[in-house]
Amino acid sequence: MANKLDRRKFLQLSALSTPLLLSKKAIAKQITYSNSPIVISTWDSGMEVNAAAWKILSAKGRALDAIEAGANQIEDTINCCVGLGGNPDRDGIVTLDACIMDENSNCGAVAGMEQIKHPISVARKVMENTPHVLLVGNGAQQFAIENGFTKEPAKLSQSAENTYKEWLKKTDYKPQINIENNKGNGPFAPNFFPDGTPNHDTMGLLAKDSQGNLSGGVTTSGMAFKLHGRVGDSAGIGAGLFVDNEVGAATSSGVGEEVIRTCGTHLVVELMRQGLSPEKACKKAVERIIKINPERAKTLQVGYLAINKNGEYGAYAIQKGFVFSVKTNDENKIHESKFILGA
Ligand code: GLY
Repeated sequence: MANKLDRRKFLQLSALSTPLLLSKKAIAKQITYSNSPIVISTWDSGMEVNAAAWKILSAKGRALDAIEAGANQIEDTINCCVGLGGNPDRDGIVTLDACIMDENSNCGAVAGMEQIKHPISVARKVMENTPHVLLVGNGAQQFAIENGFTKEPAKLSQSAENTYKEWLKKTDYKPQINIENNKGNGPFAPNFFPDGTPNHDTMGLLAKDSQGNLSGGVTTSGMAFKLHGRVGDSAGIGAGLFVDNEVGAATSSGVGEEVIRTCGTHLVVELMRQGLSPEKACKKAVERIIKINPERAKTLQVGYLAINKNGEYGAYAIQKGFVFSVKTNDENKIHESKFILGA
């Protein structure tokens, strides 16, 4: 008897749920994602970063591996804003922030880490080999060494050294945010440092592989001449990077404090979840920063870069000057981001 009842109940339930199951199937059919791989990166230096990532993506490799390879490429070059040649803090010490996130919402990060060349790879080890997300300072360095990374001294790029010396003369040892005449004294300056060298700021990169999976990473020496111990958005999941494999991924560049206070990349991804295109989502997140403090926003730069599950991408910045690099099967170029303030 019990069996009969159960069977009848089961048949009734099946009849009720069949249309539901069918409609779910139909919806699933409508959502088709392109399987073409893509990698996008902040700044023009992203071209070389993308090339390194593309070697993996074009061989049908995993987006996460492409992200690590791309970030390692710029960490290996001497430049103003990433890796051991990056801008130091106000005490002349280079401290590095990085984070990484995969298609399963696994994530790892390091902050304020000294004398380790590949912070993105250490962040990946934090993700894969520990129950934690973020390690900082000496602890991050100790973990890196235990995991086979070698300690090596920072080697300031000529540009970083010159800029730091100039900064020491002029600034009274006080970290500043200043983009006077579109030329500032930190990585938040939109285009150039005072000596005219281009400002690439943070490297943030996002990739989709041929399985349709998304991953992202960020690596930076952070805001130039920051207080020792300051950590920016680039080590913060939801700030400098967020990946949701059902929706899309976003990264940021510029003044990390503004991105942190608005949970910027998480906001961008949530806006995409609501149906906004990557560009519109980035624009709304930039508008949020401006709305909070319009006067302060005039003095700084933040740029967002995003990709959705279909491989569509977009960016938006507060000020003119933010550029990003894109590599797909069909294109390999630098795009200028749209912006809100200024002409
Ligand atoms: N976006 C880099 C930083 O603020 O440190």
